[in-house]
Amino acid sequence: MGNRKTVFITGAAAGIGRATALNFAAKGYVVGAYDIDSAGLQSLADEIGRLGATIVTGHLDVTDSDEMARCVNEFTTQTEGRLDVMINNAGILLAGRFQEIDVAAQLKEIDVNTKGVVNGLYAAFPYLQATARSTVVNLASASAIYGQAELATYSATKFFVRGITEALDIEWGRYGIRVIAIWPLYVQTAMTHGISTGTTKSLGIQLTAQDVADAIVAALEPSRLRRAVHQVHFPVGDQTTFMMTSSRFIPAWLSRLLNKRLAQA
Ligand SMILES: NC(=O)c1ccc[n+]([C@@H]2O[C@H](COP(=O)([O-])OP(=O)(O)OC[C@H]3O[C@@H](n4cnc5c(N)ncnc54)[C@H](O)[C@@H]3O)[C@@H](O)[C@H]2O)c1
Repeated sequence: MGNRKTVFITGAAAGIGRATALNFAAKGYVVGAYDIDSAGLQSLADEIGRLGATIVTGHLDVTDSDEMARCVNEFTTQTEGRLDVMINNAGILLAGRFQEIDVAAQLKEIDVNTKGVVNGLYAAFPYLQATARSTVVNLASASAIYGQAELATYSATKFFVRGITEALDIEWGRYGIRVIAIWPLYVQTAMTHGISTGTTKSLGIQLTAQDVADAIVAALEPSRLRRAVHQVHFPVGDQTTFMMTSSRFIPAWLSRLLNKRLAQA
């Protein structure tokens, strides 16, 4: 398999991860799809198998650094050490007033969304380094533009993803590894199913998992302009692009006021 491009995706059984796995399978990549949801992975494997593409699946809890190392090793053993793309996608979201969300659940959210990314980056590094023009894709979120009411901890975890992406983009450039982040606003997946916050009401849940999966593929093949400006953060959809761009030009007090209004707080 060493002559084919490869991608390793965490949280691949559902939502954005699943749509992304299908996109890469259609492009001829060898897909490594990992998740805690084994039944979801089986149905993904069946679907990708029907496309005639190659998929490797396995149980992976991203918070377990040993299991992450084992899964990345197992996958790259089958690809002759080749790892073109590592996608740190697994994540969970808790919505509601901070003090009303059980603290143990919030700590788990921090573990999955931040330590899971650290584990993925650490395990993938040697294989990314050994593969020419490799890329890390981290799933950030529009909630990393300004701290989000009713998503306080989730939003803070995505600031972590933003920070580690920026740092490693600079640090890993010398190894030929590109590190980027994808920034969707609300997406219609199980993650947002049934949640209702000020911003889901004011902004709606407009994007589909396919929109995000397509944005990931597009970010891997950037235009000359995006390459020239060394774009690290890739907003998905018009709403996020507008919010991200305007946040760079408006004063902090106005940013706060807009976010307070959107949160209907
Ligand atoms: N849905 C949105 O509105 C939205 C917006 C912006 C960013 N994102 C980010 O996109 C990513 C994917 O979200 P989604 O909407 O597809 O969610 P989803 O809930 O549809 O899918 C998440 C997948 O991650 C898996 N998962 C959960 N915990 C895991 C763990 N500990 N180890 C391994 N796998 C685990 C789940 O089993 C599931 O298959 C997340 O990082 C999320 O924060 C989502």
